[in-house]
Amino acid sequence: MPEKANLIIGDQTYELPMLVGTENEKAIDISKLRSLSGCITFDPGFGNTGACQSAITYLDGEKGILRYRGIPIEQIAEKSTFLETAYLLIYGHLPSQTQLTKFSQSFSDHASIHEDMKNFFNGYPLSGHPMGILSAMVCSLSGYYPELVNPGPTKEDIDKIVVQLLSKVRTICAFSYKKSIGESFVYPRPELQYIPNFLHMMFSTPKREYNIDDDVVDALRILLILHADHEQNCSTSTVRLVGSSLANLFASIAAGICALWGPLHGGANQEVIEMLQMIQKDGGNIAKYINMAKDHNSNFRLMGFGHRVYKNFDPRAKIIKETAHNLLKKKGIKDPFLDLAVKLEEIALKDSYFVERKLYPNVDFYSGIIYRAIGIPLNMFPVMFAIGRMPGWIAHWKEMIEDPATKIGRPRQIYTGELRHDYIPMDQRPK
Ligand code: ACO
Repeated sequence: MPEKANLIIGDQTYELPMLVGTENEKAIDISKLRSLSGCITFDPGFGNTGACQSAITYLDGEKGILRYRGIPIEQIAEKSTFLETAYLLIYGHLPSQTQLTKFSQSFSDHASIHEDMKNFFNGYPLSGHPMGILSAMVCSLSGYYPELVNPGPTKEDIDKIVVQLLSKVRTICAFSYKKSIGESFVYPRPELQYIPNFLHMMFSTPKREYNIDDDVVDALRILLILHADHEQNCSTSTVRLVGSSLANLFASIAAGICALWGPLHGGANQEVIEMLQMIQKDGGNIAKYINMAKDHNSNFRLMGFGHRVYKNFDPRAKIIKETAHNLLKKKGIKDPFLDLAVKLEEIALKDSYFVERKLYPNVDFYSGIIYRAIGIPLNMFPVMFAIGRMPGWIAHWKEMIEDPATKIGRPRQIYTGELRHDYIPMDQRPK
């Protein structure tokens, strides 16, 4: 017999059903609570609210566990490719060789964007942040593929839109970078794999072909895989919320990109490096910044530290730190920011403020060190996160629209404004 929860409000007891997930996570189903009792639940920031049932990613923040479709992230990061991981997340199982070959091939077929879209890039000032450009471009894709944006897409439509989006996003990102440095666009090369093709579009010039470096490709592979999904985070919840109105995938993901941009979410990778720059300029005075982070009046937080869900360690941060060390060592790069970040982490992890609040480095703390080593500019860091998160957003959108239980997302509120009063004509209002 599934468990029930009893909720007592005043002298009334309400029996509420419970849900249990495959990993024994428990939830009280309050979906009928308002009609039964007149009450809603209040949970700002949704820290205790399950908005859906999902079979994509399992996360246990207390134990530092992250699994995509049941497979530990450590194994995927070691053994898989980004496209195979995307397939796993979106279609729910590892692909056969035939499925993977077909999937990869279709990426080469759809890497280019419509020539007319290039005009959009010219409309942006050089200082335009690439996340804003990316979001606008992804939304604009809906205008070029009207056949894929109808509500109730078929399975074939979904397969097409998945590839269009995953493939084109790296072209859009690379073009927005080229635009920002005033260089001409470099077109994708069909014979190149996903990550080498991205690096080629970013760093080749009409005169000089970028030399693809296996160590760089591998570090990016690991980073993209580690960013690929993270269940109901702010941007994924945004994609689901927007998509729940039956907005098309392009529009839903454009909204997700905007949510990711925020410094408390995917924008934190850029903020971490800016913070390290600030500390370095200030003579490397780490203690001063630790004290500022602890002082609630200072408005300063240790960027790349803390997480809503992880309360022990972030398994992604562990792998990224190791990857950063390995890449820099292999390439003989000495980045003073790596040493500074390591020192900052050591000091924070011994400080009772961070220990008591269970604040640890998150996915964004060391990723910027890798991007710097590859030559990716600071304002492109959140864009790299967005490329990585694309399979997760798509997987959640697909899961949501295929689930007959999905309803339009529409939270309630507790109203705290004025009580009813009459309109006052202008000549009777205080001067
Ligand atoms: N530096 C200093 N103090 C912090 C930090 C931090 N980075 N993070 C949390 N705290 C403190 C808060 O001030 C609060 O202290 P209090 O209990 O004395 O009031 C306590 O820890 C709990 O913090 P909340 O803000 O309630 O935690 P929440 O779960 O809402 O926020 C978040 C999580 C947004 C990630 C937060 O830790 C943060 O701002 N971190 C810095 C930004 C960052 O790195 N974001 C990337 C997250 S990973 C991702 O989204 C991809």
